[in-house]
Amino acid sequence: MREIRISNEKETEKFGLELAETLRAGDVLALIGDLGTGKTTLTKYIAKGLGIDEVITSPTFTIVREYRSGRLPLFHFDVYRIEDPDEMFEIGYEDYFFGDGVCVVEWADQIRELLPEDAKIIYIDRGAQETERIYKCTF
Ligand SMILES: Nc1ncnc2c1ncn2[C@@H]1O[C@H](COP(=O)(O)OP(=O)(O)O)[C@@H](O)[C@H]1O
Ligand SMILES: [Mg+2]
Repeated sequence: MREIRISNEKETEKFGLELAETLRAGDVLALIGDLGTGKTTLTKYIAKGLGIDEVITSPTFTIVREYRSGRLPLFHFDVYRIEDPDEMFEIGYEDYFFGDGVCVVEWADQIRELLPEDAKIIYIDRGAQETERIYKCTF
């Protein structure tokens, strides 16, 4: 797996902006990492890179939020509270995953069996320093 060492949030921004340029409709980006590792923060920079000018807020209580002001629609999932995959079917997740936009899924390990075969996974770990992160990418 490709391993990227991030020293600070500025580098997270650079990574997110560059990643956004490579994303295409139908991409599912799965973010797997503990609380505070920067999943929402990275999503904000991806949104910025897509040209989205709306404020990105954590969709913890709604499961998914849609942003349509950028180059591609962004569907931002936080599936932390999902206890049963049925909850994903109830919100019609397939229309998002196989739709016309980009999906970013926080806590994607919670719905691993629903992730498409070609999902792009980033495992996020903390480094030794407060602002350091290690990204392990499957793509
Ligand atoms: N390199 C970094 N990348 C992302 N966030 C960072 C980094 N360094 C420090 N932070 C801080 O860590 C916190 C991450 O919070 P958040 O993005 O909500 O995490 P998560 O969504 O994974 O729970 C933010 O307060 C952010 O400013
Ligand atoms: Mg979050």
